[in-house]
Amino acid sequence: MNREREHLFVARDQNELNIAAAGKIVHVCKESIRANGRCSIALAGGSTPKPLYKLLSVRPFVEQIDWSRLHFFWSDERFVPPDHPDSNYQMAFQTLLSKVAIPDANVHRVETEQPNVETAALQYESAIRSFFNTEDDAVPKFDLILLGLGEDGHTASLFPSSPAITESKNLVFGMYVENIQGSRVTFTAPLINGARSVLFFVSGTSKARILKVILEGPSRKELYPAQLVRPVDGTIYWFVDRNAAKELTIQP
Ligand code: 6PG
Repeated sequence: MNREREHLFVARDQNELNIAAAGKIVHVCKESIRANGRCSIALAGGSTPKPLYKLLSVRPFVEQIDWSRLHFFWSDERFVPPDHPDSNYQMAFQTLLSKVAIPDANVHRVETEQPNVETAALQYESAIRSFFNTEDDAVPKFDLILLGLGEDGHTASLFPSSPAITESKNLVFGMYVENIQGSRVTFTAPLINGARSVLFFVSGTSKARILKVILEGPSRKELYPAQLVRPVDGTIYWFVDRNAAKELTIQP
């Protein structure tokens, strides 16, 4: 682990993990708003972040964030309607967005109403580029990208052997994913690696094996796409609980 730009925090339990991650998110928000007047965060989907998002919507954290300066995006999205139970936007809406004073214009969800997943990906990339006002080849720099870790080593919707994992030009990729029988829109490795900070949020015994593979195993990026995450000049924070960390040799 590169001590300079990769930090591992092991929480005693999920409650401590949520509190620690919420504190880091508040810190990044404050720093980004102080430096640039706004903070851009890409949210992770799945189930692990749900209690974290709920925690951000209540005291003390809810009072520590200037929601009018915060902009939310999603590091991946299922290609389903925004009110679908599988939607990552819907999960964030239920747990956080519906409870805080964030302006609608600051919520940049994937437009899954597009005719197909490829068009949705192109539209999202265009929306990201215009938000960051970047030239064609410059990679936008999110202040923070939240990521989960799947038991198969995927992160966002970068699944093993997926065509998205070798994408080196586009920032967002849309595809049908055979092994989950569904279509996904995902940030690609170049966009993730442009971030100032990336926060992996991993909890539970079921992730212990894969976390050890990702952090301590040989580099096999096509098999374990989470290993693709190596920010160019940003920092990776691994926020994990003791159950997820129990097979690790390295200790923080
Ligand atoms: C998604 C996520 C995905 C998730 C991992 C872990 O859309 O499902 O973005 O990458 O983070 O699959 O999911 P859990 O947190 O539910 O274990």
